[in-house]
Amino acid sequence: MTEKELVAVARLAAENAYVPYSKFPVGAALECPDGKVFTGCNVENAAYGSTICAERTAMCKAVSEGYRVFTKIAIWGKGDDYTVPCGACRQFMSEFSHDMDVISAKGNGEYLSLKLYELLPHSFNKENLT
Ligand code: THU
Repeated sequence: MTEKELVAVARLAAENAYVPYSKFPVGAALECPDGKVFTGCNVENAAYGSTICAERTAMCKAVSEGYRVFTKIAIWGKGDDYTVPCGACRQFMSEFSHDMDVISAKGNGEYLSLKLYELLPHSFNKENLT
């Protein structure tokens, strides 16, 4: 799928966002090497810290279905600026594919593509545990 197509899928996924507190819907579309795409949206909670971001929703859906390698993820947020992943999501994604493309989109569909290692250089990962 092209980056533009993946952004369109992420935008659609944001329609299911549960955002009664922030009113800021986010959607994610995560692509695997075989072309399979997992989607996710943000799911908020009255205990704000229990909120799950769209990226982690998509990642958990994929990993729970047996996928652990990812080529790219598109993130769409309704804002005027690019929706880039928060620190927790960067760390969570880097566990699986540190060199995946992270495509961050604005509400109008314009996007910016970066490598995850550019967003999270010098990350702590499983090699550090040896
Ligand atoms: N959010 C995401 O889902 N992904 C991001 O990359 C940035 C932030 C969500 C969390 C919260 O539900 C809302 O956006 C406002 O922070």
